[in-house]
Amino acid sequence: MKKRIGVLLSGRGSNFEALAESVAAERIPNAEIAIVVSNRDGAPGIQRAESRGIRTRVIPSKGLERETYDRQVVAVLNEHKVDLICLAGYMRLLSPFFVAAFPNRILNIHPSLLPSFPGLESQRQALEYGVRFAGCTVHFVDENLDAGPIVLQAVVPVLDEDTEASLSEKILKEEHRIYSQALNIVLEGKFKIEGRRVIRTN
Ligand code: GRF
Repeated sequence: MKKRIGVLLSGRGSNFEALAESVAAERIPNAEIAIVVSNRDGAPGIQRAESRGIRTRVIPSKGLERETYDRQVVAVLNEHKVDLICLAGYMRLLSPFFVAAFPNRILNIHPSLLPSFPGLESQRQALEYGVRFAGCTVHFVDENLDAGPIVLQAVVPVLDEDTEASLSEKILKEEHRIYSQALNIVLEGKFKIEGRRVIRTN
């Protein structure tokens, strides 16, 4: 049986696209994207999913209390028998209810080397801080912002001539690469979590 992935997004959807491409090319074997959910109407990621023939659902979050909203999303994910969830530019914190519904089965990609620069505009934060290396992180999701055990990270150098745009572009390329890699590790179940450490097993 193929593992069923649910993707949650709010915007552009380039990470979703990278995952969908890996699934289509069987670089992520025995998996399918069962549903793409957006909390924003008109998210370009939804169009990208539709043009790939992947099921989509827009569930507007505006004005709803966090758990009330999350109950709707969890119901849709369950309806589509989702095994694992990938957040891909999903601009919402998950409620404890959501996290408990999918223990260690929710991944997120963040454009910094966590725990540095959580939250918004991480690439700008990194540039302004003056770090020499930046990067991205795939981690399990808990109810805290950009927290949870780290599955993979990738590093890019920050050059003197870098701007927020050029740094973001370099990081995004690595995001697209490591998200598929991390998803494979998790889908294969070849890991154990000890404290905050995700240890690979074979
Ligand atoms: C990415 O930089 C991701 O790391 C962050 O939000 C951005 C989403 O981009 N969580 P996209 O929608 O996947 O293109």
